[in-house]
This record gives sequence, structure tokens and C-alpha cells, in this order.
Amino acid sequence: MGLFEDVLKPNQNLIKNEAALEKDYIPKELPYRQNEQHYLADCIKPLFQKRSGRNLFIHGGPGIGKTTACQFILRELEEETDDIAAIYVNCWKHNTTYKVLLEICNILGYKFTQNKKTFDLYDIISRILNKKAAAFIFDEIDQVEDQDFLYYVLEDIHNKTIFMIGNRRSFLVDMEDRLKSRMIPEVFEFRAYKLNEVLGIIKLRKDYAFHSNTWEQDAFDMIAQKTYEIKDIRSGLFLMKEAAREAEKKIKNKITKEHVQEAINKLENFTIKNTEELKADSKIIFEIVKKNSGKKIGDLFKIYQKEGGNASYKTFQRKISELEDGKFIKTKKQTGAGGNTTIVEKKITDF
Ligand SMILES: Nc1ncnc2c1ncn2[C@@H]1O[C@H](COP(=O)(O)OP(=O)(O)OP(=O)(O)O)[C@@H](O)[C@H]1O
Ligand SMILES: [Mg+2]
Repeated sequence: MGLFEDVLKPNQNLIKNEAALEKDYIPKELPYRQNEQHYLADCIKPLFQKRSGRNLFIHGGPGIGKTTACQFILRELEEETDDIAAIYVNCWKHNTTYKVLLEICNILGYKFTQNKKTFDLYDIISRILNKKAAAFIFDEIDQVEDQDFLYYVLEDIHNKTIFMIGNRRSFLVDMEDRLKSRMIPEVFEFRAYKLNEVLGIIKLRKDYAFHSNTWEQDAFDMIAQKTYEIKDIRSGLFLMKEAAREAEKKIKNKITKEHVQEAINKLENFTIKNTEELKADSKIIFEIVKKNSGKKIGDLFKIYQKEGGNASYKTFQRKISELEDGKFIKTKKQTGAGGNTTIVEKKITDF
């Protein structure tokens, strides 16, 4: 009769390859970003003739393939030639000039960095890189605390291309003039994916990650639709993983709409970026917003000060807008008797 057909056998998992659902996983292909990849490659090509390439500021919403597209390019570059150093730095993790330089030394395989000052590191890096050319990618550039390393790269490295990736276009407006005039970056926007593109990407990832026949079609469609609404591929990966966990918990061998709904309910607590990666002050502000969701920004600032926070109101506002860019929280404008104010809420997804 097959009454127990849908029951998982002991030791049976629905996920075949969990790594394919992790946010850092680099997929084998990057569909729907071919044009962007060609454009990025064209900017780098002059390095092959020992000339500098074009500098770019790449921006766009979270989770739409900016980092991955750049990592693809660097991977291909490394496969193609040893004459161009491929340097990728995540400026969220390495957020000061000193830390960025240490990371570049690390990438270049230079190990004797202990007790070296910033200028020593500058020297070592330029000695290595000026024997060849270099493609730099500074990801999460809007998280840096100082921009001196950019100045150094622009001044002292002869043949280079610099790509900066960020969510906020305003980073460029606020960039120091001495850098802007030297770098003259082109602005390049990654557009959000269309519904059929989200569907294609998520389906490909599903096929890498799951055994065949694991998903009911309507359950999978529901994931694609939600991912499209949120506009962030990472939330689709999260939903697939969580829905599978729900099904496994209930010892089912098919993932259904019910499991997807459970996963969607959990999205409220899912933050697009890892909170571990937040700087201490931002973490405190994030906690305050979570506890006081829906309050005015001025009132939140008072709570922050009461709890010992010592940043200025302007810095506080900037941190709130960074937290919003990272999809940790959301804000909305409200017009009242006293004029306009901003209401800050913890991120609640609209379903
Ligand atoms: N076209 C695509 N094909 C396959 N996977 C994709 C594609 N676009 C994005 N992804 C996947 O979506 C996830 C998020 O992509 P990525 O980290 O590149 O986003 P991002 O634009 O850099 O976001 P953020 O601004 O938050 O850093 C990754 O797991 C990536 O593999
Ligand atoms: Mg990124």
C-alpha cells in the first residue's frame, strides 16, 4: 500500500551536499551574470600588457552575486597567468589600513610580518607587486575605518586595477578627494535578479545540494517566490536548508509546503550577514533595536547613551543605516506634529 513510503529510513538525510547551501560556497557556474563578468574582465585586461586597468566601484543590493562574480574573475585570472597577483580583501574582516596590509602580505605568502610597522608592510608589498601587475578587490569597502591603504596602492603600485564592492553608493560621495581624483572609479551596478533568474539559480543549487525527488514542486516554487520577494539569494539558501531540517525532524522523505512555511517563520530571526561579524558598537546598537523595535531613532539614541554608548548622534545614525544596509534592521520615515522622524525596527519579513 505504501502507507509508510514517505518516512525517512534510519540514517537517511535529505541533504546530499550541505556545503552547497553555505553562503561562502562558490558554485561551479554563475548564470545570469555573464555580462557583468565580461565587463569586469575587460577592466582587468590591460594588466596583461603591463598597463593599469580600469578602477570600479561595484554596488547593488545584498546577496545578488557581487562577491561571487569577482571571486570567479580572480580564480580565472590565477589559472591564466602568474604575472598578475590576484588580491581579494574583505574589508569587513580587515577594516583598518594595517589589517588590510597584513592580509595582503598573507595572500602574497610573506610570513615575517611580526613587529613590522605599517610603512614596512607598504614597502614589502610594493617590492613584491611591482615586479608584476596586481588586481585588487576590496570587498565590503563601506566598512573600512580608514582609507590610507587605497592611497598607498594608487601611489606606489605601478600596474594595477582596483575594484571596490559596497552596498551603499554614498561611499563614493564621501570618499576622500585625494583618492577620488587619483582613482577616478567607474560606477558599476549589479541589478537585482528577475523571477526566472532567481528560479534558475535556486534550482541549480537545489540539484547540487539535494537527492533527486526530495522536493514537492509547489514547495520549491514557494521558496523561489520568497527569495524573489526578498531579492537576496542567500535567503533562498537559508530557506532550503531550514525546510529540509523541518522535514528531517518530522522523519519525512519529501519536503512540502508545510516545511517551507516553518522555514519562512524562522526567517524573522535570520539576518543576512552573520552578527558575529558586526563590530562591537554596532552589535550593541543592534541589540538595543531588537529590544525596542518600533521606537524613534532619537529615543533609541537616548537608550544607547544610558547604556554607556559614547558615539555622537551622527555616528549613531550612520551605524543605524549600516545595519539597515546589512539587512539586520529596517527603518521608515514618519511625519508627525514635531516634523519628520525615523522609526527603527528589527527586521521582520513581510509574510
Ligand atoms: N548567478 C548566480 N548563480 C549562482 N549562485 C549565485 C548567483 N548569484 C548569487 N549567488 C549565490 O548567492 C549568494 C550570495 O552571493 P554574493 O555573496 O556574491 O552576494 P553579494 O552581492 O556579494 O552580497 P553582499 O552585498 O551582501 O555582500 C552566494 O551563495 C552565491 O553563490
Ligand atoms: Mg558580498
